[in-house]
Amino acid sequence: MIKKIACIGAGYVGGPTMSVIAQKNPHIQVTVVDMNQARIAAWNDPDLANLPIYEPGLTDVVAEARGRNLFFSTEVDQAIHEADMIFISVNTPTKTYGKGKGQAADLKYIELCARQIAAVASTDKIVVEKSTLPVRTAQALKSILDNTGSGVNFHILSNPEFLAEGTAISDLHHPDRVLIGGEDDRAIQALVDIYASWVPEDRILTTNLWSSELSKLVANAFLAQRVSSINSISELCEATGANVDEVARAVGKDSRIGSKFLKASVGFGGSCFQKDILNLVYIARSYNLHEVADYWEQVILLNDHQKTRFAERIIRTMYNTVNGKHIAFLGWAFKKDTNDSRESAAIYVADHLLEEEAQIVVYDPKVPAEQIYRDLDALGTRSPEDNRRLLQVVESPSLALQDAHAVAVLTEWDEFRTYDWALVKQQMKRPAFVFDGRKLLNRKDLEVLGFQYYAIGE
Ligand code: UDX
Ligand code: ADP
Repeated sequence: MIKKIACIGAGYVGGPTMSVIAQKNPHIQVTVVDMNQARIAAWNDPDLANLPIYEPGLTDVVAEARGRNLFFSTEVDQAIHEADMIFISVNTPTKTYGKGKGQAADLKYIELCARQIAAVASTDKIVVEKSTLPVRTAQALKSILDNTGSGVNFHILSNPEFLAEGTAISDLHHPDRVLIGGEDDRAIQALVDIYASWVPEDRILTTNLWSSELSKLVANAFLAQRVSSINSISELCEATGANVDEVARAVGKDSRIGSKFLKASVGFGGSCFQKDILNLVYIARSYNLHEVADYWEQVILLNDHQKTRFAERIIRTMYNTVNGKHIAFLGWAFKKDTNDSRESAAIYVADHLLEEEAQIVVYDPKVPAEQIYRDLDALGTRSPEDNRRLLQVVESPSLALQDAHAVAVLTEWDEFRTYDWALVKQQMKRPAFVFDGRKLLNRKDLEVLGFQYYAIGE
């Protein structure tokens, strides 16, 4: 029976997941640790508006459990030492150096965690991989733990997270399934019992370790593939006069296909899709399965093409030059209802337009200015000074839209629909262009107001 849980990593996965586990298991003490002091301080902030992650419903869960059986701390060793079960929920970015650069997952944070657990543990532990990992990472973890630990027993479980940002709390409360992979029945049952506090047992699947690890990559690859599939059709729609939303609706009504994840867009972003597919591609290549690798790589190539195509459409429509033109960006997050912008399409569209010396003014309801500049600077396309000279971040939509030559919708935030578009039109330069990368606004309404409206896939 598990009494104490530690979770290493207080990010988008660890924070919300542990909050819900603590909420639903008041008898278990859950401590989330992170070496990032500022992040932990934000999780402990008495004002719940300052939590480091924005997720609808998260503040209620934290309010209920924090201080009761949910704790956030920087005392990593102490939490490891006390816990019966340790979740590893640290970041696994794509490698930016050496072998597998640009494709393989960088496992240095995972390995550091394993070494730290091995160094500190003096009692048996169940170690749970929560981070998305290449298949067979559990083996590496086990080897590090067994070889560097002080003789205590470690059982490794894989328990990939399927929550989507923006709906994390509802996904955690009502998961389609919980997946637990492992070799030791007692360890598996210990984790099943924790989820069974609120998840119906028929939704808790148990598999071997490798199936669990691989299933996470495959689930994300299939979802991303659907988005790339419909995005490929969006270009065909533009060429033929079909409307991609109508096609998606007609196709999605087939119950074998289903209607979800068929929304054409400027391209998928987020910390998972690209990373996981690159990972799958890398693994396939490492087993010499080149046809398999090429097949999945195409999902990424199409996504890159969609972002480029959107930027080029803006330039072409604006008389082949955006030099010095003010383009208002509505949205920077990779999807609505999150402050996360990792791999957001907005970054790449902006970069393309900045190469053409456009003047971009960004408004996003939740993404702070420092983060936007960090995203751009990380590309290394131009100097940080040039990024700040060409791109400005503002705190209100009207500041972004005033005197704009064009508006580009990059994130589907609901509030963008509610703007007084008649007033926006008056404030903009003529002709007033709208490039809707999310198919969020209503073409008829905008055309009546006199906008030149372009949307993906129409
Ligand atoms: C994804 C998976 O959904 C989740 O199960 C996994 O645990 C992590 O990765 P997330 O990246 O948070 O979640 O968001 P998701 O809703 O999957 O959206 C990913 C991207 O695809 C976003 O940029 C979104 O705007 C885009 N998208 C999604 C589309 O463009 N069209 C769609 O129809 C659906
Ligand atoms: P995810 O989206 O997977 O949750 P994040 O980057 O949001 O990823 O969160 C991962 C967190 O893990 C970061 O806050 C980082 O500081 C933390 N982290 C990484 N390695 C360690 C470690 N060895 N000890 C403690 N915290 C760590």
